[in-house]
Amino acid sequence: MSDHNKLKITKMNYDKDRPKAENPLKIMDLTLRDGHQSLFATRGRTEDMIPVAEQIDEIGFWAVETWGGATFDTTHRYLNEDPWERLRTLKRYIKKTPFSMLLRAQNLVGYRNYADDLAEAFVERAAINGVDIFRTFDALNDYRNFETVVPIIKKCGKHFQGCICYTMTEPRMGGEVYNIQYYVNKAKHLEKMGADTICIKDMAGLIAPYDAYELIKALKKAVSIPIHLHSHFTSGMASMSHLKAIEAGVDIIDTCMSPYAYRTSHPAVEPLVMTLLGTNRDTGLNIKALAEINETLEKDIMPKYRHLLDDTKMSIIDINVLLHQTPGGMLSNLINQLREMDALDKIGEVYKELPRVRKDLGQIPLVTPTSQIVGIQTVNNVLFDDDKERYKMITGQVKDLCYGLYGKTAVPINPEVTKKALKGYERGEVPITIRPAEVLEPELKKAQEEIKGLAVDIDDEILYAIFPVTGKKFLRYKYGKEKVPNDMLPKTLEDAQAELELLKKAKAGLLVEKKEAQESPEECENLREFKVFVDEDYFKVGVEEIGGAPVVSYVQPAAPAAPATPTAAPQPASAPAPAAAPAAEKPAAAPATASDSGGSPLTAPLPGLIIDYKVKEGDSVKKGDTIVMLEAMKMENTLPAHADGVVKEIKYKSGDNVAKGDVLCIIG
Ligand code: CO
Repeated sequence: MSDHNKLKITKMNYDKDRPKAENPLKIMDLTLRDGHQSLFATRGRTEDMIPVAEQIDEIGFWAVETWGGATFDTTHRYLNEDPWERLRTLKRYIKKTPFSMLLRAQNLVGYRNYADDLAEAFVERAAINGVDIFRTFDALNDYRNFETVVPIIKKCGKHFQGCICYTMTEPRMGGEVYNIQYYVNKAKHLEKMGADTICIKDMAGLIAPYDAYELIKALKKAVSIPIHLHSHFTSGMASMSHLKAIEAGVDIIDTCMSPYAYRTSHPAVEPLVMTLLGTNRDTGLNIKALAEINETLEKDIMPKYRHLLDDTKMSIIDINVLLHQTPGGMLSNLINQLREMDALDKIGEVYKELPRVRKDLGQIPLVTPTSQIVGIQTVNNVLFDDDKERYKMITGQVKDLCYGLYGKTAVPINPEVTKKALKGYERGEVPITIRPAEVLEPELKKAQEEIKGLAVDIDDEILYAIFPVTGKKFLRYKYGKEKVPNDMLPKTLEDAQAELELLKKAKAGLLVEKKEAQESPEECENLREFKVFVDEDYFKVGVEEIGGAPVVSYVQPAAPAAPATPTAAPQPASAPAPAAAPAAEKPAAAPATASDSGGSPLTAPLPGLIIDYKVKEGDSVKKGDTIVMLEAMKMENTLPAHADGVVKEIKYKSGDNVAKGDVLCIIG
């Protein structure tokens, strides 16, 4: 490392004379992508970025990250926003500062490796729509997955930033697999591939300050291109690691505007600006201009997102991340999904199982999509395995990983798991060793054919090709073929403020809980009344007969001011489904029962999205045959038939959302 990068401190009057630093530290702002992805499940809307976009452009950031990662998915899936349009819109406001996107190499912005033709088209369209810097990573650090996208990035005249995913198997950097030599080798490989810069991508905030120092020193010595550090704050170390990396001569650092900083996001920019003020690495950024942006964010934007912030914990750091190595985005997803499955109490078991699953799967780094692959397989193991059998429900993606479709893992996958995963696997039972995309058939043409008549341009077609189910749904909203559901519409600042007021009142004890009025069916003439005595209380109970099965139509305390609240609520006239299906959770869909069709129901073991049914009504199936593909937590799950029989009734269609316990079909 040259003397140029060494930290020097000079005394001066900062307000009057702030000379340009000899070697200013460059900053990339992540507020508009990783910031809200980490803190608010990527729910930030373009309309909430516009009010600060021009100010951000004036700051002098090296780049702003505006796209990629989960933005492509969440915009169209949850926000009714065209992801391409976000890029074009922001480009109208941010004209000087380059745009960076997070590209998952051959995974693009999805969760699997796509075919070369689609990867090429995607990168080219991203460049044309406004991406200047392609921060490219592969979840396995297998750079064969860069071979298709890099030449296109170069052809478009754009900046190729090659990432090394930072991960560990030990409490600190080192050990057999992810030691300093591993990272140096990867950096040399990237430089050879033509990387313009190299990014150490510390997605879980694992890099310890002294390891950051040692690593950056080694990389500066090994390669001549600039080094960029991306470190999440999750464990609480990132601010310290930044400083040590700066001392070691790092060229570029990632930060967020303070309202989008810390927790599972990144250190804030403002303290760093002050820390380096007057040194030879002074960022030159204007702290007052940053403060103005923050004020707009705090007052006009953040209230709309406050409800998404995980405020269940006092601590803003998670020391467990040092043990279970779970990146921020994955962590909030995992918690949300467990909550939806009423299994939040299993989080401890999930943390315990996670390192075992990771080891079985070749000690892969945990970053999208591998974080989801390992995370969901872990959840499946915790929910469905027993003492006799592990890996009872293997996701499609784990099968693909075992087959080699994601690339080469750092250490070999547990052969037992591979054997079980690949039993009857459609591509074959022997894993491949070549570049994964070599075995993928071109897929863009086929997608274009399928979406003909709905897609208007190539960007629509690519959206559909990457996300067939949700992409098609979005295109139907976009072109007015279907009404946009209310829950996709933006929350107004007024709504948010009203909620906040209500919350304040509740905290002050000024709100009284309103009892929900029970809707009871209308009473009819042949109602029989019973008197029921429970201890001291006396209830009058009306019972009405419908088609044989008696229905309790009301229960009410008869004695005035009975102290006990009756708990029995009117129940729909259905026999309980054999598999304890919580029918009451989703009253809209009439729960199917064994009695009305003579079969037994296959229920959703997890909440999710129906990808497609592999059978149709009337088909004969054998126990274990694939019935339906369910996407849960962005992973595909194959749901097999639980019994031999005929498919009597199919309850949903591709694109439908289902809750845990919903009946997917009847087999009888
Ligand atoms: Co990140």
